[in-house]
Amino acid sequence: MTINQSSRSGSIPVHFETPRLRVRPFVAADAGAFTAYRAHPDVERYQSWSDYTIEQGRALIDSMHDLLPGVPGQWYQFALEERQGGALIGDLALKVDGAEPSTAELGFTLAPEYQGNGYGLEAVRELLGYAFGTLHLRRLTAVTDALNYSAALLLDRVGMRREAYFHENIFFKGAWGSECAFAILDREWAAGCGAKQIR
Ligand SMILES: CC(C)(COP(=O)(O)OP(=O)(O)OC[C@H]1O[C@@H](n2cnc3c(N)ncnc32)[C@H](O)[C@@H]1OP(=O)(O)O)[C@@H](O)C(=O)NCCC(=O)NCCS
Repeated sequence: MTINQSSRSGSIPVHFETPRLRVRPFVAADAGAFTAYRAHPDVERYQSWSDYTIEQGRALIDSMHDLLPGVPGQWYQFALEERQGGALIGDLALKVDGAEPSTAELGFTLAPEYQGNGYGLEAVRELLGYAFGTLHLRRLTAVTDALNYSAALLLDRVGMRREAYFHENIFFKGAWGSECAFAILDREWAAGCGAKQIR
């Protein structure tokens, strides 16, 4: 992982790279592309929002401006772009737990036209490296809708353990839904769980 220092903080890096991707803070110019993929039915299906608007996109990006990753109780949203060409292709998210700041939850979204290329796997694998290696977290978690098979498969592939299946625990978009909980510890990551190859 290549890490550059943040121009905003001078201490917590907010840029990192993978072979094909660049992870960076959001900027105002991302609002159109960000809103376009968030509003896509295939992207919002298992997410908390519906009918995402440009105003919501702008507000979220604006709200990130003075934030840094790793602040307990706050989601930090990273922009994800292709190194070749620089297109915004999705985002990564990290929320350090407010009560237990050695633990964080992660999230990830790719624009539909960039899915199926291994970008999600490449990005989330690097996010784990950033969370453990740079932020020195101890435990990372993720929650998926039980029907969100591509997200669950991705979490399996990065080496996260399925720890729970919650039967119809959430009333979501008009119906009761079930969720899967995943987690990985720093020592499991260090032992090479995250190095699991896709095939
Ligand atoms: C979940 C999500 C991020 C997965 O994105 P993705 O980039 O397609 O995921 P992956 O990196 O796992 O892609 C793997 C696929 O790319 C294929 N692929 C193609 N080229 C590849 C390469 N060079 N390396 C690895 N995989 C490659 C794989 O074969 C695999 O296909 P398969 O699943 O049919 O076997 C994406 O579906 C998404 O954004 N969904 C909507 C938002 C969402 O639900 N987020 C999760 C909320 S919990």
